[in-house]
Amino acid sequence: MSETFAPIESMPREQLTALQLERMRWSLQHAYDNVEHYREAFDANGVSPRDLRELSDLSLFPFTTKADLRDNYPFDMFAVPMNQVSRIHASSGTTGRPTVVGYTAKDLDNWADLIARSLYAAGIRPGDRVHVAYGYGLFTGGLGAHYGAERLGCTVIPMSGGMTERQVQLITDFRPDAILVTPSYMLTIVDAMERQGVDPRESSLRVGVFGAEPWTEQMRGELEHRMAIDAVDIYGLSEVMGPGVAQECVETKDGLHIWEDHFYPEIIDPLTGEVLPDGTEGELVFTSLTKQAMPVIRYRTRDLTRLLPGTARTMRRMQKVTGRTDDMIILRGVNLFPTQIEELILGIAALSPQFQCVLERPDRLDRLTVNVECRPGVDAAGRASAAATLEQQIKDRIGVTVEVDVLEPDTIEHSLGKARRLLDQRPKG
Ligand code: DLL
Repeated sequence: MSETFAPIESMPREQLTALQLERMRWSLQHAYDNVEHYREAFDANGVSPRDLRELSDLSLFPFTTKADLRDNYPFDMFAVPMNQVSRIHASSGTTGRPTVVGYTAKDLDNWADLIARSLYAAGIRPGDRVHVAYGYGLFTGGLGAHYGAERLGCTVIPMSGGMTERQVQLITDFRPDAILVTPSYMLTIVDAMERQGVDPRESSLRVGVFGAEPWTEQMRGELEHRMAIDAVDIYGLSEVMGPGVAQECVETKDGLHIWEDHFYPEIIDPLTGEVLPDGTEGELVFTSLTKQAMPVIRYRTRDLTRLLPGTARTMRRMQKVTGRTDDMIILRGVNLFPTQIEELILGIAALSPQFQCVLERPDRLDRLTVNVECRPGVDAAGRASAAATLEQQIKDRIGVTVEVDVLEPDTIEHSLGKARRLLDQRPKG
């Protein structure tokens, strides 16, 4: 077992199970006693927190969805009085009301510990300089990462997102050891470095902790190669806490260890809600075990993955997330995710991973166009041939016909945070 930040990361499974059961009982009771939504939902399903005798009994309890959080906007999912809520975060979502989350001082303390654990697993050590380019503010990325890096004993550079030229300057001048940023914004920064004649391989950076959006093994290869760093995955969502729900270990890079002493994972069939065995792909569902301000019981993340046994830690791993059920494109009956396109693009030397999928419905039939930039220096003939190759590969491997437009570098809107990989321009309704 590898060196860890906290001994609990390598707790024997039987002890962990006992701890989870005790904490799950507490969390269910806490939710039931203090949040009207949970009381009504449990009662309507005829279950009581006392019905939990073993961990698998959790399947008796109802799911919680984003719609439940929206219906209880802004603060009705909170389980403590407002004067005990130390901080609020919110995620904007694409439409309607934001999803609001709250933390007590103890919740914030746990969060900082879990980020410290995560960064340690990523290979960051006390004394390292950490450049945080996740957005600060209502988004959980910036502040979440910030306090965890401080907790670990790092020197934090709270850069936030945007101002790409300034990012390049501070990376050059402040010489950080690690950067915390979305993988798509990292690409934007690396492109900017290269345009300015700064060699990203010569930067001081040793580790990148990338998350907040899906990214592929091929993208890991791209970032590691272009920057001469270790690229590791961090996962989380505001409703459950923020970043640091699960973290990949730098020594194995084989999926993300879920911090199971605080969050209990299940994988369900997204259509039937049935719990699936470990190893099977489905929708990830989380139950918080320690959260005070806003417990979540069986929260449906809409993220697709599978649970795997522990390796570098005893806690179970989740495989890299392939996508969200919401990002799935259904094109003439075939399901596909932007990550599948990313994988293919990165296998073609003339193409850069700056891409966007556009979905239109010109005459009652859906049409998908992949707009992708070429690498610098590729001529018109090279672009045409790369487009033909990608179209063919998408047809052969995914089974759909799409149009590919290979564009000059720096012509597509580059990400400054979470990438918008899919533009849905079909008529609504
Ligand atoms: O994105 C929290 C976060 C910040 C995670 C910084 C990691 C780093 P939300 O804005 O609520 O919170 O979005 C959560 O983003 O349900 C996934 O769909 C996606 N997501 C987050 N991390 C990953 C990842 C933050 N490593 C939603 N891989 C989640 C794939 C991810 N998708």
